[in-house]
Amino acid sequence: MCGIIGYVGKRPAQNILLDGLKRLEYRGYDSAGIAVLEHGKLTVEKNVGRILELEAKLGSTQWASTIGMAHTRWATHGKPSTANAHPHVDHTGKLALIHNGIIENYRELRKELEKKGIAFQSQTDTEVLVNLISDLYTGDLRTAVQEALKLVRGTYGIVVLHEDHPGMLITARNGSPIVLGLGDGENFVASDVTAMVAHTKNVVYLEDGEIAELHAGTHEIRTIGNETVTREASEVAWSIKQAERQGYEHFMLKEIFEEPEAMRNAMRGRVIPSEGLAKLGGLNLTEDEMRDVRRIVIIACGTAYYAGTVGEYFLEHYARIPTEVEFASEFRYNNPVLDEHTLVFAVSQSGETADTLAALREAQRKGVRVLGIINVVGSTIARESNGGVYIHSGPEIGVASTKAFIGQITAFLLIAFQFGRLRTMSQQEGIELANELIVLPEKIERALAYANRVKEIAKHYASYKNFFYLGRGANYPIALEGALKLKEISYLHSEAYPTAEMKHGPIAMIDENFPTVVIVPNDLYYEKNISNIEEIRARSGKILAVTTEGHTILEEYADDVLYVPETLHPLYPFLTIVPLHLLAYEVAVDLQRDVDKPRNLAKSVTVE
Ligand code: AGP
Repeated sequence: MCGIIGYVGKRPAQNILLDGLKRLEYRGYDSAGIAVLEHGKLTVEKNVGRILELEAKLGSTQWASTIGMAHTRWATHGKPSTANAHPHVDHTGKLALIHNGIIENYRELRKELEKKGIAFQSQTDTEVLVNLISDLYTGDLRTAVQEALKLVRGTYGIVVLHEDHPGMLITARNGSPIVLGLGDGENFVASDVTAMVAHTKNVVYLEDGEIAELHAGTHEIRTIGNETVTREASEVAWSIKQAERQGYEHFMLKEIFEEPEAMRNAMRGRVIPSEGLAKLGGLNLTEDEMRDVRRIVIIACGTAYYAGTVGEYFLEHYARIPTEVEFASEFRYNNPVLDEHTLVFAVSQSGETADTLAALREAQRKGVRVLGIINVVGSTIARESNGGVYIHSGPEIGVASTKAFIGQITAFLLIAFQFGRLRTMSQQEGIELANELIVLPEKIERALAYANRVKEIAKHYASYKNFFYLGRGANYPIALEGALKLKEISYLHSEAYPTAEMKHGPIAMIDENFPTVVIVPNDLYYEKNISNIEEIRARSGKILAVTTEGHTILEEYADDVLYVPETLHPLYPFLTIVPLHLLAYEVAVDLQRDVDKPRNLAKSVTVE
């Protein structure tokens, strides 16, 4: 989704805005723009393409201004173009607006404004909103914005700047994240703390239906209905250094190598090996309430959904609780069957995914408790959940989610562990599990040690156009996640199946041009997987096998073999995903894709 940043203070705004925008570019990046007030005059520059191209367009221009805003776009209405880029300016040329979200009734609003003689320069819903505010403006900017937003249906995170108010920014949110950054004699507003954490860690999150007025040293929050809101600031828990590449060629590679630490962070203080227990604060459930849970539903999208599918295996294996995973975008319209014994988990790295947020609200509407498994502290889904688990993976900048996936499945494992020990899991089983969990991050590091081998093998596959990914049991969702990773950063077609399912149709696709990645660790499916590999080879299919160290016999069956350390059978997903994340990354690099900002994607999809 779009990146938004605003600044009002005592320092030159231009570079603060552009640097902040670059930290948001992973959120959406098909066009960018900036607006400032220079000598009281609204000055706007925008451009289709990346922020670097906007900077090139600005050249040596350094505006004498200490207030402004900037935006990087992920197109919803209207193609990526300079005309459709934000900021949008009203017909008077004095009012500028940047927007993240979708105004669903923009067509009828546009018609009303056109009847008043207002002409439009773009196809966007945003230009309708800026002109609606302008049409209602009679000198009080905040009131005009409040009145306009009462007429709007849809989602928005906006920032507004007007020539008549040289020291003020107005911002408001409904469904798209807005966070205020409170500095010393200066204030910031952004769609994500990453844009401003270099300047301040003191932040205030706006809630839906709220509007804020920002000046250099003060801020005031109200509701759209104009009631005053008082909200404590919170402290961002990580440093800007964690949101930088630190010598890696891409954020994605850095974040893959952070996967061991992501698991340690998600486990920290939550595993007690001596007692064979896991203890999660924040679930807001008594032990009796946990025992009373008879069914679990997991709602999520994309990689978070696949993490939930691994979670389903953990919850059914360790806690014996019937569990199902639903695509959030489907769940919210399916009139889900829920009752007082059902517990819902909403999984989201960003905590802002619109489909997941809508599904959470639908579950709560039916009286069901929803717990979040979230990475971004203070995000909307985190704040609207009835409790939950922060995975503490640190900022994940690469659009393709990697370390957060490890954090999410770690959270699910700990939840299954804690529920399991309240049910059928023995202390001895708990001690064994806890002892393996403690050493698992080192085993992820050992899996990462094969990175150069993956880099070599990836060269054998970059020329293919289609792939199958196969896995059984808890490795089937790993096949799904591996296939998604390849798709989203290399743009190659890949699909995943439970390994045995290949025989029931998909095997028709196999020939020497259709390689298959098979996850075949030394678990209870090992022999069966070998047979399936034979079936593929009998049809000239190329095989890349991921197996347990020491099982070199796979070299006789597969064209290429990648190894992971041995672990308890149910825990293989923590390890088998590592070579698949690396494989997707290396193939995409071979194909010279923009790995951190793949085409058409955005890091957080805050529209439905
Ligand atoms: C994952 O690599 C994708 N970028 C995407 O599928 C993502 O997982 C999905 O949009 C959910 O995002 P969330 O975890 O922030 O809710």
